[in-house]
Amino acid sequence: MQVGIDQIGFYTPNKYVDMVDLAHARNEDPNKFLIGIGQRKMSVADQTQDAVSMGINATLRYLDQVELAKVGLLIVGTESGVDQSKSASLFIKSALNLPVNVRTFEVKEACFGMTAGIMIARDYVRLHPNHSAIVIGADIARYGVNTGGEVTQGAGSISILIKADPQIMTLNDGHSAYSADINDFWRPNDSPVALVDGKYSKNVYLDFFKHTYTAYQTQTGSKTSDFTALLYHLPFVKMGFKANQLAIEKEDEETKKRLADNFTASACYSKEIGNIYTASLYLSLLSLLENAQLPENAKIGLFSYGSGAMGEFYSGQIVNNYEQALHKTADQTMIARRQKLSIPEYEQIFNRALQVPEDGLELASDEQSGMWYFAGTENHVRQYRQK
Ligand code: HMG
Repeated sequence: MQVGIDQIGFYTPNKYVDMVDLAHARNEDPNKFLIGIGQRKMSVADQTQDAVSMGINATLRYLDQVELAKVGLLIVGTESGVDQSKSASLFIKSALNLPVNVRTFEVKEACFGMTAGIMIARDYVRLHPNHSAIVIGADIARYGVNTGGEVTQGAGSISILIKADPQIMTLNDGHSAYSADINDFWRPNDSPVALVDGKYSKNVYLDFFKHTYTAYQTQTGSKTSDFTALLYHLPFVKMGFKANQLAIEKEDEETKKRLADNFTASACYSKEIGNIYTASLYLSLLSLLENAQLPENAKIGLFSYGSGAMGEFYSGQIVNNYEQALHKTADQTMIARRQKLSIPEYEQIFNRALQVPEDGLELASDEQSGMWYFAGTENHVRQYRQK
């Protein structure tokens, strides 16, 4: 029996900033952002979108394909948590009408959180093949207006259904993990934005990639040329590009071209959306699936990195006719529907979203009908509503 990814749902908020506008406002050469960083746009969440509402909206993309009574596990990976105690997953479970006997919780290890959830879900479904598991990554990357990390912000969510005999990708046995207690990026309790040692974080990311990729190859006997595509956590596109260059530098021309072309396909959506932390690696997967032609049984390698830091490399195999399980038009419409913000509009929305709204104040959303949003707190209890 094979276990793996059966459905992928995607959500990003309905506003964006163009990197050329941002570069002009920050007195930078636009090519630094477009080429040096590799980003074109970034999604911006207003006060009414958070990890919970985005996670609901991503899962709703495929919920009609799910036998709700069979969902035994719901895990939310996020570093944009809305409560120090109650899991984001409980609000989501309620909005999705999942059964009361679902086991549900939130996990945190920076951008690694969703991969942790996928690995737990894979092993859970192997033991309980009649059950399925929903794993959600939902995050808003915030460094602050006019900071070095500003160009690498973003917002969005990916939701994945893990089940037996999946329609999209089976998950192979084995993985290589690597961890170290370091301070490359973190968000202490007294800060609404991340703190980061940017240049150090880039070096550590590449270091962790080398450790996990080499260990995975040794453990499984696999070679770079066996992979149809290598996917990366993409805090910004140039970061994954550099890791991919390391992986392919000694390969033959055919392997180099295949892995370079498929990297480009995997980065199309991140280039438009920015960093969505836990969900970024899975946005790369969705982008590859919807922008490349993959042969049946294509082997896909996935590198997950979470600051602090935890890295893991694992792999999967593409299932025949996987295209039929995707929601390509809806996903591309989701990206195209966003409204462009001027830089002063973005700064105002960004700074307001850092504040907790006054208790009892009802927030209005400008989202499309059917989407969920955060409507404020009543007696300090968060309220979520569907438009
Ligand atoms: P910076 O100091 O503004 O930029 O910060 P830079 O000086 O490093 O320049 C960036 C690149 O642009 C360089 O290329 C320049 O040469 C190039 P590189 O040396 O990297 O190849 N450049 C130009 N290219 C073309 N035309 C030009 C031009 N000018 C310069 N005119 C930095 C950049 C990424 C450090 C900053 O944005 C930042 O701190 N971002 C946040 C941290 C981050 O994303 N780190 C990534 C690894 S850690 C990670 O992935 C985990 C994370 O997702 C969090 C989590 O796990 O939860 C962040």
